[in-house]
Amino acid sequence: MAANANAEALKESPIPEQVAPGKQTVDPYNVSGEVGADGVVKAIDYSKLVEEFGTKKIDQALLERFERVTGKKPHRFLRRGIVFSHRDFELILDRYERGEPFFLYTGRGPSSDSVHVGHTIPFEFTKWLQDTFDVPLVIMLTDDEKYLFSEKRTIEEVQGYCSSNAKDIIAIGFDPAKTFIFSDFEFVGGAFYRNIVRLSKHITLNQARAIFGFNDSTNIGRIHFGSIQGATSWASSFPHIFGADEKKTRAIPALIPCAIDQDPYFRMTRDVSARIQHAKPSLIHAKFLDALQGPGTKMSASVDESAIFMKDTPNQIKNKINKYAFSGGKVTVEEHKEKGGDTSVDVSFQYLRFFLEDDDELERIRVAYEKGEMLTGELKAICIKELQTYVEAFQERRAKVGDDVVDLFMERRPLQWVGNPKAPRVVPVVDGAAGAAGVTAEGGEGGDGKLTKNQLKKLEKQKQIEAKKAQKAKEKEEQAAKAA
Ligand code: TRP
Repeated sequence: MAANANAEALKESPIPEQVAPGKQTVDPYNVSGEVGADGVVKAIDYSKLVEEFGTKKIDQALLERFERVTGKKPHRFLRRGIVFSHRDFELILDRYERGEPFFLYTGRGPSSDSVHVGHTIPFEFTKWLQDTFDVPLVIMLTDDEKYLFSEKRTIEEVQGYCSSNAKDIIAIGFDPAKTFIFSDFEFVGGAFYRNIVRLSKHITLNQARAIFGFNDSTNIGRIHFGSIQGATSWASSFPHIFGADEKKTRAIPALIPCAIDQDPYFRMTRDVSARIQHAKPSLIHAKFLDALQGPGTKMSASVDESAIFMKDTPNQIKNKINKYAFSGGKVTVEEHKEKGGDTSVDVSFQYLRFFLEDDDELERIRVAYEKGEMLTGELKAICIKELQTYVEAFQERRAKVGDDVVDLFMERRPLQWVGNPKAPRVVPVVDGAAGAAGVTAEGGEGGDGKLTKNQLKKLEKQKQIEAKKAQKAKEKEEQAAKAA
């Protein structure tokens, strides 16, 4: 009996095996591993991305600090290097420690009604961050982007996807008291539009070309779009959440959990933030979930055989994994038992790394498969069960999300959050802005905007006063509680 059904899976693979040789590309519009001279797509080299993009690897020391500061064991995505890279995440931990405000920002381009498990990864992680930090979250639906970047989609079509995509996102389990979801077509205007224009004024065509690879034939909507995705990183775009006083809101940074392909937008935004004295966003980057066809391929919403969809039935999940999931097993059972399987390319094992919570169980499976004690069929069965459970739980929550719930999440309203319960809440205010992220006031467009020593002193004093006030309020509360 063949322990490995790859041959059959490849025969039916909807993804072309042979492509022209070329370098790895990862940007918001293209994701593909390096293609060798043999025409085979290699797995994405994430270390190379960290180097090229100039981000930092998430290391053990950062994870240990995270656990000390939040009192929470890092999410399995962090423990397993699936969320693997960051920009200034440590500044967010500093702020959390000091009780200073920040918010979470993520998004999705509503390009179809079919959400697959790969789409849910950044949202699962974002929900966990929201639960951990207890901060506001804004979720951007870039209907305009999906219109601009597609030859055939109409505005009506992409707007139509917003509501169903919002339901899928809500079904991940976000807290309505702390979450604002918006579509660009609906929300652009007011403070948000002011920031979009501010951002666009600081990006030249040359820069946009260098960052995104645009050329003379690119429509200007695409060239401008980065200012829209970028401006969402600024708290001052959301006066209904953070207030209208830009002296305060300029000081509040975003933490953006996203897949690494979105980094170019925010590299650009961070640059401009520094120049207009707005707090720079921090980022935390996730890897992609491979398509069923294996490393180097990416799930596609338009190719049913490439992915497990959140609408799939338990039977469809079982059939897809059995039929298509690329296996790291050997060709015959005898050889497999003798030499063992390769978990690094085995799709079922890779999916378990994403979805199986228990570290010990995962390690037991890895060892057994690599020793050849566990066969591909058994590994696939474990993966099938895990995915069926994940998808079914999602579907149960999704069934309860009606239009009224979507309206609630998308309504412009104040949000409620606590932040770090152990740190007194501090709102740094200055004539101009922002202590912690090293940000200073926009001293008029073009001014150098640096804080004077006096202003710094004032800021420090103000912070101390705020902290004292918070401490007093807390003591009062405690006394009242004792008296009651
Ligand atoms: N451009 C993203 C997409 O096509 C959507 C998006 C907007 C986003 N803002 C974001 C994703 C912030 C991650 C973080 O899916």
